[in-house]
Amino acid sequence: MPPNDSSAASNPASNPASNSLTTDSHDFSGLVVGVLGGTGDQGRGLARRLAHAGVPVMIGSRDAGRAATAAAEVAETIHDGARISGAANLEVAATADLVIVAVPWEGHRDLLVSLAGPLAGKVVIDCVNPMGFDNRGAYPLPVPEGSAAQQAAEVLPDSTVVGAFHHVSAVVLLDPEVAELNQDVLVLGDDRAATDRVQALAGLLPGVRGIYAGRLRNCGQVEALTCNLVSVNRRYKAHAGLRVTDV
Ligand SMILES: NC(=O)c1ccc[n+]([C@@H]2O[C@H](COP(=O)([O-])OP(=O)(O)OC[C@H]3O[C@@H](n4cnc5c(N)ncnc54)[C@H](OP(=O)(O)O)[C@@H]3O)[C@@H](O)[C@H]2O)c1
Repeated sequence: MPPNDSSAASNPASNPASNSLTTDSHDFSGLVVGVLGGTGDQGRGLARRLAHAGVPVMIGSRDAGRAATAAAEVAETIHDGARISGAANLEVAATADLVIVAVPWEGHRDLLVSLAGPLAGKVVIDCVNPMGFDNRGAYPLPVPEGSAAQQAAEVLPDSTVVGAFHHVSAVVLLDPEVAELNQDVLVLGDDRAATDRVQALAGLLPGVRGIYAGRLRNCGQVEALTCNLVSVNRRYKAHAGLRVTDV
């Protein structure tokens, strides 16, 4: 375990949620979280933090070997008992109980169309930010469906899509020196039970609260807000996250 990660583990009072797989009425001890595109920075970062919190995690990739390598590398950075494995995206979609989509916007639609069958009946968490970059910085790309999350809902009619984790920096997720993330995760969706569950899942990350932030139709501006955070990061040499006040 990296030195600073031990603080959260050894001091339950600092973040009770991160030390129990049961947050409020949500029990995560029996479920597997899959991460499509989990070999990338964001996927490995989320996988690392969830596995560290005790959740069994499957990293997905277009290449099963690449997924296994990423899983082994992430496992090296956390405690020995962490349950983390790698497999092809198809196997992850079929096996995991709850699936995070962490692929670039360019590959988002095609990948989800190809996995609609195995993802049926599952909660699918979309953290994809459709963004472009030019010499003036980051800007939101137009999405015909309104947002990446709404596109996911459209191509996955038998899944329950929730938007979350858009603003959590992969750099921070992967940094072993960062014990507490100290930020909120905005959670959006049309199914109350699913958003409650994803809020609770977010709460397993140290120093994170999952905050309900509206219906899926309001996910476009949440995704686009990431462009503003990129500007903040560039100006202040930071890895900015969000905190919602008075909640
Ligand atoms: N990076 C961040 O700080 C951050 C923060 C919040 C949200 N996000 C969002 O999270 C998503 C992933 O970000 P990232 O930085 O981790 O991206 P990334 O490294 O560019 O891509 C993640 C993984 O997606 C797979 N992939 C690449 N192109 C693909 C395609 N056309 N079809 C299917 N799979 C493809 C690759 O895995 P394989 O080659 O192994 O299949 C890659 O390792 C993005 O949509 C981003 O907007 C990122």
